Amino acid sequence: MSELKGKTVLITGAATGIGRSIATTMAEAGAKLCLVDINEVGLKETAQSLPNETLSINCDVTDIDQMKAAVAKAEDRFGGVGVAVLNAGVVGTSAPVDEYPLEVFDAVMRVNVRGVWCGLQSLLPAMLSRKSGAITITSSLSGVMGFHGVSAYTASKHAVIGIMRSASLEAAPFNVRVNAIAPGFIDTQMVAELEKRMNPVDPGSVRAACEDRTPLKRYADPREVANLVKFLSSDDASFCAGGVYSVDGGFAT
Ligand code: NAI
Repeated sequence: MSELKGKTVLITGAATGIGRSIATTMAEAGAKLCLVDINEVGLKETAQSLPNETLSINCDVTDIDQMKAAVAKAEDRFGGVGVAVLNAGVVGTSAPVDEYPLEVFDAVMRVNVRGVWCGLQSLLPAMLSRKSGAITITSSLSGVMGFHGVSAYTASKHAVIGIMRSASLEAAPFNVRVNAIAPGFIDTQMVAELEKRMNPVDPGSVRAACEDRTPLKRYADPREVANLVKFLSSDDASFCAGGVYSVDGGFAT
């Protein structure tokens, strides 16, 4: 089920958290992996944890030349990239809109929006000419609703859903499927850091409140997100295009 045997899969933000879990899940499904991140140490750890042959590329997703070079390296090593997951992201800080630092706003938009856009620009030409491909973009629950204190993150995650919709319309006639996922609260370092910023004295209370608001009453394991990405990347999802798929324990219901 949801096999990716022999497919070349490129994952950004693969050094930690959800991206690392996606890499593990794709490796188990038989993919050849190209791991992309700016965190070299984390990339090495991800690669070492996988049984499959992998290519790790230290690359800033906001740099279009670096992204194009990463895709070219993956194609040289493994053949055409058939599947990509544009997952790299940053959360920024926690502050109300009227106090939110402009430079943090810019930094969040740069990675989360420009980074995804650079990924699409680098990947789509070859996929369109081969008339085959599947790209999944990691948006967020913050891409479909608002949360206090994270306006930049919320703006960026709404924006990538817009980009995904345009890209999907353009790519679907060429048998290239572009989709987005909207994860809720997932147990990763990113969320732990945000909890600390929201309540440095008692970050556990932030987690408890988020778990309580989630109908399934818990955070997800990153593997639960990776399973959805694997499905969307596979031929089992052959009629899924231009969608936003929730994996949020029922939060956005
Ligand atoms: P994480 O912080 O563990 O992973 C993000 C990865 O992106 C890191 O490895 C980081 O080095 C990489 N990255 C950041 N800037 C980069 C750049 N300029 N170039 C290349 N790589 C860069 O966080 P997590 O939780 O695994 O997040 C992964 C994605 O999932 C992000 O897009 C995040 O916004 C999204 N997400 C996470 C949720 C959660 O609850 N953890 C919920 C909803 C969405």
